[in-house]
Amino acid sequence: MITPGRFKDDPAEPRLVLAKTAVLREVDPELSWTERELPERERTKHVHRLHPYLGKFVPQLAEVFLRRYGTPGGLVWDPFVGSGTTLVEANALGMGAAGCDISAFNCLLARVKTDAYEGRALEDDLVRLEARRSKSRARRASPYVERWFAPRAVDELLAFRGRIGGTTYPDLWRVVLSRAARSARLTRHDDLDFPREPVGGEYFCHKHRRVCRPVGEAEKFLTRYARDAARRVQEFSHLRTDAPVTVVGGDARVVSPPGPIDLVLTSPPYPGLIDYHEQHAYAFELLGLERRDPEEIGRGVSGYADAIAAALRRAVAALRPGGKVVVVVNDSRGLYDGILAAAGLRLEDRVLRHVNRRTGRRNGEYYEEILVASP
Ligand SMILES: C[S@@+](CC[C@H](N)C(=O)[O-])C[C@H]1O[C@@H](n2cnc3c(N)ncnc32)[C@H](O)[C@@H]1O
Repeated sequence: MITPGRFKDDPAEPRLVLAKTAVLREVDPELSWTERELPERERTKHVHRLHPYLGKFVPQLAEVFLRRYGTPGGLVWDPFVGSGTTLVEANALGMGAAGCDISAFNCLLARVKTDAYEGRALEDDLVRLEARRSKSRARRASPYVERWFAPRAVDELLAFRGRIGGTTYPDLWRVVLSRAARSARLTRHDDLDFPREPVGGEYFCHKHRRVCRPVGEAEKFLTRYARDAARRVQEFSHLRTDAPVTVVGGDARVVSPPGPIDLVLTSPPYPGLIDYHEQHAYAFELLGLERRDPEEIGRGVSGYADAIAAALRRAVAALRPGGKVVVVVNDSRGLYDGILAAAGLRLEDRVLRHVNRRTGRRNGEYYEEILVASP
């Protein structure tokens, strides 16, 4: 387990920040790690780097609250499961874990991260996937795929997709296909999160500080990411426990936890910050997943508070006596006092933490709050 350090370089002075409620709030140094204390390779350890995902919380933060309020052998519920950080960390601590998400791709990712794998079968799958066959394109690509990928990349992606069928772990390789597709899109290297238009030729790249050209192939990513994924799931298999994990695709306002829960640990979408379907548009296309954009909470402010309160109310209904609800939020609109009250929750603690680059390339400081509540 990581030993939490102090905030920034001044161990004596906790930082004071003007939070949304216009009150000077103290940053909790125990939950605010510097880059040196918590480098990227630790934040994205083992399965947490299987696929890029904007908006996940760091596993070390989840671990702190699971150890504080979770019960080994009990059940933790995350109604906005995203890439499955809560489930992975709960499982490693021997806690049953369940979650739901409206994005079919996020559900796939959370399942793949928490599944069990066997080394020999993974190796056999890799051999099968690397055995390239016909170079001619026997498959039809959708207009989206034709538009966002170079012809050679389309061929390589579709051929890989065709080889997934006979493998033992098709969902793992579908995530690899998606990760490779993300890297192979006709986008600027410095604009991978939400590119609007494909790029056709050379451009000045702010990431590499030189003239770059868009990627024209996918095979090198497919090979590299397949090997990387196999290594990462095997690394996690040494930490993984037999505690049950359940991932449900659906709307948190209507999905109930699969049993009585001891802890809710979640990070809801924030209004207007990240479009969770659009960030993986290429995956929905290539994997043929159903999009449920209209049910995604946070696409606008209107109705946001009611929607989150409804999801929390449903979770609270399954909470055992003494159970806690821990919500990680960037409550810049000051909505959460009302949301918790509407969900029948009483706020017990409100902690401000400094976030080390949570949502990709952003300027300026970024803070989020952890709200601890109970019915
Ligand atoms: C901040 S992210 C959660 C990130 C997660 N804690 C992690 O570490 O990966 C919020 C998630 O809420 C999901 N979401 C949005 N509307 C939803 C709804 N109506 N029901 C369930 N999930 C929803 C989004 O798809 C997104 O994955």
